[in-house]
Formats: sequence, C-alpha cells, structure tokens
Amino acid sequence: MPALRLDGLAFGGDYNPEQWPRETWTEDVALMREAGVSLVSVGIFSWALLEPSEGRYEFGWLDDVLDLLHANGIAVDLATATASPPPWLARAHPETLPVDHDGRTLWPGARQAYCPSSPVFRARQVALVEQVAGRYARHPALVMWHVSNELGCHNAHCYCDVSAEAFRRWLRDRYGGLDTLNQAWATSFWSQRYHDWAEILPPRLTPTFANPTQQLDFWRFSSDEQVASFRAERDVLRRITPDIPVTTNLMLPMFKPVDGFAIGAEMDLVSNDHYLRAEDPDNHIDLAMGADLTRGAAGGAPWLLMEHSTSAVNWQPRNIAKQPGQLRRNSLAHVARGSDGALFFQWRASRGGAEKFHSALVPHAGTDTKVWREVCRLGSDLAALREIRGSRVESQTAILFDWSAWWSADLDAHPTADLRYADVARGVHRALWRAGITADLVPPTADLSGYRLIVVPTLYLVEDAAAERLAAAAENGAHVLITAFSGIVDEHDHVRLGGYPGAFRDLLGVRVEEFFPLRAGETVRLSDGATGRVWSELVHADAADVEATFLDGPVGGGPALTRRGTAWYLATVLEDPGLHGLVARVATAAGVQAVVPGLPPGVEAVRRRGADGVGYLFVINHTGTDAALAVGGHDLLTGVDRQPATVAAGDVIVLRESG
Ligand code: GLA
Repeated sequence: MPALRLDGLAFGGDYNPEQWPRETWTEDVALMREAGVSLVSVGIFSWALLEPSEGRYEFGWLDDVLDLLHANGIAVDLATATASPPPWLARAHPETLPVDHDGRTLWPGARQAYCPSSPVFRARQVALVEQVAGRYARHPALVMWHVSNELGCHNAHCYCDVSAEAFRRWLRDRYGGLDTLNQAWATSFWSQRYHDWAEILPPRLTPTFANPTQQLDFWRFSSDEQVASFRAERDVLRRITPDIPVTTNLMLPMFKPVDGFAIGAEMDLVSNDHYLRAEDPDNHIDLAMGADLTRGAAGGAPWLLMEHSTSAVNWQPRNIAKQPGQLRRNSLAHVARGSDGALFFQWRASRGGAEKFHSALVPHAGTDTKVWREVCRLGSDLAALREIRGSRVESQTAILFDWSAWWSADLDAHPTADLRYADVARGVHRALWRAGITADLVPPTADLSGYRLIVVPTLYLVEDAAAERLAAAAENGAHVLITAFSGIVDEHDHVRLGGYPGAFRDLLGVRVEEFFPLRAGETVRLSDGATGRVWSELVHADAADVEATFLDGPVGGGPALTRRGTAWYLATVLEDPGLHGLVARVATAAGVQAVVPGLPPGVEAVRRRGADGVGYLFVINHTGTDAALAVGGHDLLTGVDRQPATVAAGDVIVLRESG
C-alpha cells in the first residue's frame, strides 16, 4: 500500500483558493509557511470551475495553485473534485437528481445533488477523475488523492427510479433468486410476496411500517453504493498513480449511512472529519469515540484527521466558539488516538456562501486573533511531535461496533423507540473513557485474540460466525460484557427462537422470556445501587450467577446483571454512574488497568507505541485544575524532563517514556 510521502505529522486543511483573488493566494502561502502548514486539500468543490461545460476542462488556475504551493514547500492532498456536480449536469440530465423518501426531488443550489446510483453521474465522475489524475500525476506537490468528500453526507439514500433499478440489481446479486429474497424478507407476511423483480421498490413512503428486511437491505445497498463510488475513482487513480495513496474523508463516530469498516478497508490511508457537538459538555469524549472508531476503520493503523474546526462551525443551532486552548486539546487528542496529523476545514474563512460563519485557520478578523495564534502554536506542537508518526495506539479493550446491527436495531416496530444503538454504544465508550481505559471500536469480524475485555453494546443483529468468535474469545479468557437486546436476530432480521438473546444464550447462560421496556422517563433500581432506564426484561439465569437484581419495576426481583465465567450480561440500559461502576468492575476482573491509574476525572491519557517499542504518553487535561501524575518522562512539547509530571489546567503533555 502506498504511504503518504510527508515528513513528520500533517498540518493544514482544506484550501479553497478559487474563492479568492490571486493576491490573496500569495498572502496565503506566506501565512501557511508562518504557521508551519505542511499539507492542504485542494479542489474539493471545484468541479464547476474545472469542467465549465460537459467535456470541456479548464485547469489553468489549478496548475498555478499547485505550482505556488509546491514552490513554498507545501504538499497537496488533491481532490478528484467530484464531490458536487455543477449545475449544468442537472440541467442536461435531470435524472441524475436525487429523490427523497417522500418522493421529493432535491435540486441543485446547495451541494451534492446527485443520485449515487446514476450511471450518468458515474460516467461524468470517472471522466473527471481521469482528467485530474492524468494532468497532475507527476506534479511534485501531489502526495495524496482525496476522493470526493464525505461520501453520502447529504445524498446517501435515493429513492428514484434509477436507484430502484440499482437496488434490484444489488438484490439479485445478494439473493440470486426471488424465492430466496421472499424467504429473507419474510414476504408471506402482509401479502408482500414478489413474483417479479420489477415489483420491488426502495422502501418509499408506505401506509404503515415498511418491511424491515427491505429497509435493512436498503441501508446495506445504499452503503455499498458509496463504497462502489469510492472504488470507481480509486481504481482510476491507482492505475494512473500507483504510488500515491488514496483516501476519502469519513464522518465518524456517528455517520450511520456508510459502513465505515467496509469503506475503510478500501483506502490506502483512512481519514476522518470530526466536529464537536458544541453544546455537549462532554464533547471531547465524542471526539475520542470518533478517533477510536476511525482507528478501527483503519485496522489499528495510524490514520489522518482530515477536518475539524479551529473554533465554531456554522451548521448547529448555536455555534459555540472554542475556548482558548480547546483547539490544541482537540487536535492533540486526535493525534493521541492515532491520527498522524491535524487538518481543518478550512484554511481561510469564506466571505460568501453558506459557510461564511464557519471558523478557519485564517479568520475574517485576520491574524491578530486568538485563533491564528493558536493555529501557529499547534503548528509548532505538531513539529515537536514528528517522531511519533507511525506509532500505534495501545489498547487491551474492544467495543464491538457494527453498522448492520445499528441499521437493524434502530428500525421501527420494535419493543421501544427509546433504545437507540448509537446511545448505547456512546454510553459504554464514555464509561471506558471515564475509567481511563482506551478502547478500540472494531467490527464483529475483527481478530479479538489480543483483547482482555470486549464490550458488546446492543448487538441486536449478529451472524453466527461473529457469535462463535465472541464465544471463543470468552473461552480463551477474555471478559465479554454484552448489553440488552443483543443476539436477537440473524442477518435477515429474523428472530432467533427459543428465548432471547438467541445467539448468546449459551455463552451467557441466560434465557430471556419477555421484554418489559419502560415508560418514558421511568427508571428501575438495581440491587447493586445502579439505576436502569429504557429497558428491562424477564431473565432466567439458568446457567449463570446473578450479580444484581431489579429491585422494582415490571420485573422486580428478576436478574438484571448476570455472569457466567467471563461472560457478563446486562439486562437494562444503565444510567451513567452505574454503567461506569459496572465497566470498572468488569475491567478489574479482566485485569485491564487505566492507562495512567488514578487520574483525576476529566483528564485523558492515551499511549502510542513506536515499532521500536518507545512509548508516547499523551495526557490531556480538560479541567480547570492542575493534575499531578504518578508517571514521568521527556515532554516532547516543551523539551523538558518531567519526573513525575504535572499537567496544568487545560494543558497537554506528550511524554516519551524511558524503558
Ligand atoms: C464537512 C465538509 C466541509 C465543510 C464542513 C463544515 O466536514 O466536508 O466541506 O462543509 O463540514 O463543518
């Protein structure tokens, strides 16, 4: 696999010079040098300029941009420019426009107004990639290809007739014959049996609940269409420039439409965009989850933070600006969790367009600003960390994460609308974060042999092979904690009979007879002091020890937490304090320790380790109080030996550990 040819860690962001006069370009490169920018992404939304009419290409301005960047020692992550088609495409080929679930056409005038299954779009897309790659293959500034942008961000699900045809083709590939599809979709129910492929549609607006397996397959198909779009471009790029790595930017942790593991496996270098949920006081934990999941999509290898923001974004209801020091903590937290750099959207804040109030490296107010000073400081921080490039994050804990489980668990017509896959997954990740334990988010197909602790949040849908792998991991001594509404259905969303949680009944030694979801806002008390919400169920601990019972609620007196050997089962959704206690307890039983034991709440520690065995300990203090550590080493950021180390309020240290 080709590697990114860049010294040290990447620093920079999306550069959109087409929005500015040429005089500004000269100032841009001077400022980039001042800040230590090493890599910029160029041309992401340039299609309409590069191909002003069908088949007529104009590259002159982009030639000049790349030459200028190269002359200033700045490398280029060159976009294929296919993210957003120009208005002429829709005018000439209106059938390329996407149609939503309710049958409404999404028109040009924003971005990404195309049907992901359109063969017309695909032809124009690939033609543009051929042109861009052909023209810049040998340009010395080129170090990486940036396919499209956030694939599926606004148009992942299209319900038009062209998509319907593509969906049918996908279904033929998956099922071969109609009988198999009818079986899988359980179409004997509600008179849904299909006798001709042409009868099958995407799950458009229906009088009541659409067939769940049809819905699930449409999620799968739509995700596969995005992966196919990536592959179509990547294959052209690989043919023309086999030595240049190809990426596309994901949107983890919580972008549901595209399977991040599936598309990650197709990339040479996995990259991700992360934006804080501005009003969430724990948004640095969501950041950590995004980074941990991106690392999972990269198979544990280093990845690249393609975008985050220097301060506020423009697309949340209230776009809260970052506090002094927050930019630095955010960027270095991504690096701690495996990113070999920190890039932003965007270089210079736009004057016009929908994103003019989005922060940038160069704000509207210029360089005499908090943001610019922090940008320059980050540039020197990243330069000081150059030796950590290529090192890998250490973890003994996995969270099993699965897009099919997510898509299916969240479908309608379930026991409760309140059990949301992403909430449960976030909950266990947050509990591990608070316990100071680094977790890898990995797919059920991952090699689990290196993990001592495996947490399985609401794996509603699970294939037999994955259930067996998990049982084997427990057999080999790993502690496995499975949470409620797991193991319920097979890959077709058909219930596993004989008592829940079907796929995990033997592993856990329990049999669940009936679900007792809770009323909105209702809570239940557990005998170990924890509080449950959303869910309870009638559990028979036939071959398991009961670790805690429900004290009240619909199944008062029944088991709430069970254990069979190293396999634990939680039959509710715990509120945070109880969940933290449980995770800490299972971690202790598994012999998993915090990265730095005894850290105060709100202080984050993660270790990367180089191929030479050297450890790099990142400690990020998200609190307003100085934190004293029981560990020490050489701080790469200040060049000072700290033994033991203190991390000042809001500060970050990165210790090269000796021995
Ligand atoms: C995404 C996109 C960028 C920009 C930012 C704004 O990450 O990739 O083009 O729109 O959001 O936050």
